Amino acid sequence: MAEASDFFRNRTVLITGGCGFIGSNLARRLVEDGARVTVVDNLAPRSGGRIENLAGVMDRLAFRRFDLKESSQFTDVFQRQEFVFCLAGATSHADSMRFPGDDLDRNCRAPLAVLESLRRVNPTARIVATSTRQVYGRPQSLPVDESHPLRPVDVNGIHMQAAENYYRLYHELHDLKSVCLRLTNTYGPRMHLGRCCHGFVSVFFRQALLGQPIELFGGGEQRRDFNYVDDVVEALLAAARLEPNEHRVFNLGHDEPQSVRAFAEIVCETVGGSATSVDFPTERRAIDVGEYWGSYERFHQAAGWRPQVALRDGIERTATYYLSEAKELGVAPAPPFTGTLRVSAFSSSPAR
Ligand SMILES: NC(=O)c1ccc[n+]([C@@H]2O[C@H](COP(=O)([O-])OP(=O)(O)OC[C@H]3O[C@@H](n4cnc5c(N)ncnc54)[C@H](O)[C@@H]3O)[C@@H](O)[C@H]2O)c1
Repeated sequence: MAEASDFFRNRTVLITGGCGFIGSNLARRLVEDGARVTVVDNLAPRSGGRIENLAGVMDRLAFRRFDLKESSQFTDVFQRQEFVFCLAGATSHADSMRFPGDDLDRNCRAPLAVLESLRRVNPTARIVATSTRQVYGRPQSLPVDESHPLRPVDVNGIHMQAAENYYRLYHELHDLKSVCLRLTNTYGPRMHLGRCCHGFVSVFFRQALLGQPIELFGGGEQRRDFNYVDDVVEALLAAARLEPNEHRVFNLGHDEPQSVRAFAEIVCETVGGSATSVDFPTERRAIDVGEYWGSYERFHQAAGWRPQVALRDGIERTATYYLSEAKELGVAPAPPFTGTLRVSAFSSSPAR
């Protein structure tokens, strides 16, 4: 199999959600690999979408800003794209309970509109879509593989499961070839630190960078697996190179499940700061899946992928990025982020 860096040279690639955390890392990588990249994003409120995530590569890609729900009005964007990476969506589980209609729009109506546009103007495009481990709900056994029952415990998980089914159906009925990757906790440069409703991973980095104690709901003893974003980008590229005869769904994951507390401790050792246990908020506990880690064996068999970045290494790389970008973060316009980063407070004192 050709290396991804050669494989995508001069290929036309559309990335939805390309201003977000994972989409922007993918866009940057594909631009470096010589692909002809188009990004569609509407910089949705309460999302990780930031135009700054594409700083330095903006003049080497095409950017279109519109809501993917309205894709039927912008079908020119979907023409002549060999690969379509569908990464736009709403990721916050807590927000999905507070704004279920928004989650429906972003995670169901928008991908459905994209599929309809592709069916009409570009049915030979190869699609890679991101889904989430949240579709499984609370694990009945660990590690969770793809045969585990799907019983999501929040609105976001239900909508993501529905979206997976759209991709499957369009593959089966209209031969729109697609692969879905079920991502687990992903972290790294360009994740949005500005909002408390994003996952605990970004919240922990935010608290540490602000010099606040990291708050561990209920002590943080539950174990999870974590993927560094570069590994997820490699997985997306590997998935695009598959030529599936049938719709395929794969877990990502990591061999190094760690407790949430252990994750926080490494963040503290790297950035500075301390962690403290707080009561698990009732509304968060209600949608918490407890212990989770996944088996990525099926994807390894199909695509040869395995995560390369160890947890501590990934956290150190992430901390390095945010410490050097702290000034930029300080102006991140996302309530309730109101603090000022105290760079000097942690750059000189690694562990408090
Ligand atoms: N980050 C994680 O830990 C994680 C875990 C599991 C699954 N995922 C999945 O990976 C994908 C990307 O996640 P992320 O962390 O990069 O999220 P993100 O919030 O950083 O990026 C999502 C992007 O989609 C854009 N967007 C949302 N709705 C849109 C619409 N209707 N039209 C146009 N643009 C729209 C937003 O503006 C944003 O730029 C999502 O599908 C998410 O569910 C992420």
